[in-house]
Amino acid sequence: MEIDSQRICIIGTGYVGLVTATCFAELGNHVIAVDKDRSKIEKLRDGVCSIYEPGLEELLQDNLKVKRLIFTDDVSYGIKGSQIIFICVGTPPLSDGGTDLSQVEGVSRVIAESINGYKLVVEKSTVPVKTAQWIKRTISLYNGNSQKIDVASNPEFLKEGSAVEDFMHPDRVVIGVESEKAKEMLLDLYKPFNCPILVTDLSTAEIIKHASNSFLAMKISFINMIADLCERTGADIKMVARGMGLDRRIGEEFLDAGIGYGGSCFPKDVKAFTRIAEELKVNFNLLKEVDDINKRRIDSFISRVKEALWVLSGKTVAVLGLSFKPNTDDIREAPSMGIVGRLLEEGARLNLYDPKATDNMKEVFPPCEGRLSYFNSPSWACSGVEAVLILTEWNEFYELDLRKLKKLMKTPIIIDGRNVFNPDDMEGLGFEYYPVGRKSVRNYY
Ligand code: UGA
Repeated sequence: MEIDSQRICIIGTGYVGLVTATCFAELGNHVIAVDKDRSKIEKLRDGVCSIYEPGLEELLQDNLKVKRLIFTDDVSYGIKGSQIIFICVGTPPLSDGGTDLSQVEGVSRVIAESINGYKLVVEKSTVPVKTAQWIKRTISLYNGNSQKIDVASNPEFLKEGSAVEDFMHPDRVVIGVESEKAKEMLLDLYKPFNCPILVTDLSTAEIIKHASNSFLAMKISFINMIADLCERTGADIKMVARGMGLDRRIGEEFLDAGIGYGGSCFPKDVKAFTRIAEELKVNFNLLKEVDDINKRRIDSFISRVKEALWVLSGKTVAVLGLSFKPNTDDIREAPSMGIVGRLLEEGARLNLYDPKATDNMKEVFPPCEGRLSYFNSPSWACSGVEAVLILTEWNEFYELDLRKLKKLMKTPIIIDGRNVFNPDDMEGLGFEYYPVGRKSVRNYY
């Protein structure tokens, strides 16, 4: 496919920015990626990815080689050298659930100072509705209306762990614009994509992003409550989810019950959307409940551990899986953070294992002799333990040699927060097994 090359500046090389920059370069565009973190920029220039994301590092290196992708900490250079500027900086949560937009505001002012002609400024970071209007006002105010600009909203829907695939093959692209020129430029940029492209106004695009994430989080909290009902009635959550999901209006995805959602998006976005609704005087308590249900998953998991182990103090427990989901090293808002903290408070000794997230976890929970140890393999982590807890459904856990594992453990108890195993198989193998929303297997009274 013949692709017109565009010159693009991406400001912010976090998850969204780095994937956006690399993938737009891969599609034939010339991309300048900017970050104020000089040491990160140096690593990226050497082709070293700052995050673990399948397939990203290879693409990054390929595009560095052909010079379609360059990294700089000089934001002014990036702005001057491009027609389209994507804002991909962080929008972290505030303590009241609102969104800290200081980085977006700061970048808007820098754009105003560096602008040297018409620019299309596109917000890609997840932001509260009306942020695009504020960006436009800020740029106009600080450059004294000296240059014509357009502002657009182009929310990103990629998931960590499959970010490159999601970016390249999205279900849809959403473009919120105010002018025909901005619309044409973005449609041209997204020409290679074979998916519906929805062109809307700015506020609609912004709300689509928050509404989508909140809806998915709601689906997860909903199925988690159904899991509780299943546990009390002997029904099976897997079959219930399948029976519901086969209705195309519901859909099968995001109906996996477990210990709740984590990550840098759902927890933050649900709170932010709740806050926006409050500010707009719209009663959206449904969202508060979504968040509360999610928080209570940690309590119910800890109760489950106590139900199996009685007193935790002095017992050794293996924790398999620390990242907030598989295929990422990200532990932000991961259920493991709360669970590990609570188990330590209860006096348990923990053996932790994760294929990718160990280094990040060590920064929050440093190893501590006799209390908290990290291991390089599940077998080592599970040797001599009184229970194994599964907190993330990494593929390799599905393939564990359970017979061997049982021999290594002191007492054969598995508490599975992600429904990795089948209760009947576990019964056959002689484990005590505690899944979520499914039949528990108890062998000892
Ligand atoms: C989420 C959205 O899925 C993306 O579309 C969006 O672009 C992104 O946020 C963002 O706003 O940047 P992500 O946070 O990477 O993506 O991860 P998800 O795959 O959505 O998983 C979120 C959490 O929900 C994980 O902790 C996962 O374990 C949990 N989850 C997911 C469940 O507990 N059950 C499910 O059925 C699905």
